Amino acid sequence: MGTNDTGKPNLDSILSERKAFDETKAGVKGLVDEGLKKIASFFHHQPDKYQKANNPSHVIPVIDLVDIDNKDPSIHQGIVDKIKEACETWGFFQITNHGIPLSVFEELKDGVKRFYEQDTEVKKALYSRDKNRSFIYNSNFDIYSSPALNWRDTFICYLAPDTHKPEDFPVVCRDILLEYGKHMMNLGTLLFELLSEALGLIPNHLKDMDCAEGLVALCHYYPPCPEPELTVGTTKHSDTDFLTVLLQDHIGGLQVFYEDKWIDIKPVPGALIVNVGDLLQLITNDKFKSVEHRVLANHVGPRTSIACFFCTFHRSSSKLYGPIKELLSENNPPKYKETTVNDYITYFEAKGLGTSALTHYKI
Ligand code: OGA
Ligand code: NI
Repeated sequence: MGTNDTGKPNLDSILSERKAFDETKAGVKGLVDEGLKKIASFFHHQPDKYQKANNPSHVIPVIDLVDIDNKDPSIHQGIVDKIKEACETWGFFQITNHGIPLSVFEELKDGVKRFYEQDTEVKKALYSRDKNRSFIYNSNFDIYSSPALNWRDTFICYLAPDTHKPEDFPVVCRDILLEYGKHMMNLGTLLFELLSEALGLIPNHLKDMDCAEGLVALCHYYPPCPEPELTVGTTKHSDTDFLTVLLQDHIGGLQVFYEDKWIDIKPVPGALIVNVGDLLQLITNDKFKSVEHRVLANHVGPRTSIACFFCTFHRSSSKLYGPIKELLSENNPPKYKETTVNDYITYFEAKGLGTSALTHYKI
């Protein structure tokens, strides 16, 4: 790496190294395929000062939805109460018996792997940073703004409201992505109803605010890493959306930040992880928490995960979102200014992963 007079790496050389990596269009997987044994310094992260929790009771709640349609209102309310508690403390929970067949999960993970493991030349044609595409594959969306890169490749596809161009999706995973999108929209409707109830609002409240209108899938591929202690799979961050529903495979490495410690979110077969995003924290005036999390790099891999973001991202309207009026009172005045989804996301992307955009909107 080039250095200037002060001995510090200069910005031009940092950017040109990242540009060279970007221009390979082969992502982190391309580096691993070359058999590299040491990782480039632009993947090196500052050591994290926080410890792993050793309190065995610190586990994010697993909530069983099997009785969701039970006619006994107290059973339904029991589930709502668990969700409320989880959103107020952890910002995370896992759900089981959510209605999505396990075979769909297997096909989806296989489809995502098939995409990454196809010929590099075929993938290169889809490598892009053009936000107007409905399918965007690249490595590190914030490659030119983040302090250090992540050991991960990602493709993003828009599943709702406009999947009108499914021909843009690669054929190796097209059908399963579209099928998963349909399941996810049904599940999203249910989750936003339960979240509305957990806030003491009518079940349709969040849906009527269009929180469930947009769905974007982020399909991650974390190749095995030769020096995992020097880097991370995903930098510590909170999600920018209203709500995220994540499918992770069996490998593990996802951690949530709780009381200044890292807690492993251990894979539970058949479960989905649900977490509150920044925009839900904003509209609930901090009642529900958008909590930071990260993914460790690992010698073992590849790890795949599919994060479904309920959010319209760059397709959003001029609709303004601020703290929900029904939740405010004299003792609970609004903590945030109103913003559009687009404005929020644009602000976040300029900063790069790891910097919460929420504080920018604090009153
Ligand atoms: C994300 C995320 C976690 C994972 O996409 O925002 O936190 O396990 N993903 O990939
Ligand atoms: Ni996340």
